[in-house]
Amino acid sequence: MDAIITVENLQAFYVLEVMGERKVIKAVNGVDFAVLRDEVYGIAGESGCGKTTLLKAIFAALEPPLRIFEGKVYYYPNGERVDAFSLAGEARRKLRWTYISYIPQGSMSVFNPVKRLRITFLDFLKSHVGGKREEELLTLAREHLVRLGLTPQVLNGYPHQLSGGMRQRVAIALATLLKPRVILADEPTTALDVVAQRAVLQLLRDVQKEFRSTIIVVTHDMGIHAQITDRMAIMYAGRIVEEGLTKDIFARPLHPYTRYLIQSLPKVGDKNTKESAPGSPPSLLYLPPGCSFHPRCSEVMEHCVQEIPPLKKINESHWVACWMREG
Ligand SMILES: Nc1ncnc2c1ncn2[C@@H]1O[C@H](COP(=O)(O)OP(=O)(O)OP(=O)(O)O)[C@@H](O)[C@H]1O
Ligand SMILES: [Mg+2]
Repeated sequence: MDAIITVENLQAFYVLEVMGERKVIKAVNGVDFAVLRDEVYGIAGESGCGKTTLLKAIFAALEPPLRIFEGKVYYYPNGERVDAFSLAGEARRKLRWTYISYIPQGSMSVFNPVKRLRITFLDFLKSHVGGKREEELLTLAREHLVRLGLTPQVLNGYPHQLSGGMRQRVAIALATLLKPRVILADEPTTALDVVAQRAVLQLLRDVQKEFRSTIIVVTHDMGIHAQITDRMAIMYAGRIVEEGLTKDIFARPLHPYTRYLIQSLPKVGDKNTKESAPGSPPSLLYLPPGCSFHPRCSEVMEHCVQEIPPLKKINESHWVACWMREG
């Protein structure tokens, strides 16, 4: 299968100057993976493990204090490989929103609160589609909304007039206006009730079917991954600790941390209290030695404290970074 995004040994850190002292927050700390054409790829993990930072790096949205220390992100428009960090000016403008689009965490941030949505959609189209009159661009926007099962009437209102779920769907519609090949969606369902969640998931599925886009979904909610992703990665303290087909991850989680994430999901009729991982994630400023998860791991061995386990291939599609799996 063809890759559509590859990430190689990516290290993306926040570098802060605090009272004359340099602090380095290792938010993405050596990440490797490939996302394939047409798939829905999930990224899971607790709050603060680096999911949003990873998406920002993939989108090449690198603003201080975020800096790339190592590694590469590649795009594959027209089959050729393009280094995402080397793109600038017109070359970058061309690929953004047509090849890759990004729906940031918290849909409100993509809209201007004092402008009607019509203006936001128009401004977006004006800056990317040349040689068309305003009325033609509006028709494009309306047709796109209808194609995604949304009413074009939303364009007449202001962002705050929409419910959270509808606003998120309109944010997805805006980000997919130019039919991007890859869509990065950061916590698209978080803070929505289950009915609104279902509508957003359905919309993402529709977008994927309609435009044959590849979707990378970031969410801490394992239930969402179970519903929508084909493959997924589990992140812990800036690294991927397990990757595989979603069905295999749920049926046979290999990393102790993944097992905690799955165990903490509620099941109908199960009244036992849920066991989540004891303790809390490490500070990304001061990572523990060896495996970052070892202070919380019930199966910790001596070696885990000494050396970081590499991501190891267990079978064709399942990878895990755990010394227990090293035999
Ligand atoms: N602009 C910033 N400046 C400094 N540190 C930051 C900045 N943004 C994020 N961080 C830190 O980087 C780490 C990773 O943050 P990130 O937002 O990528 O996590 P996340 O997995 O998306 O969390 P959540 O599930 O809460 O959205 C955290 O420790 C966070 O405090
Ligand atoms: Mg986040």
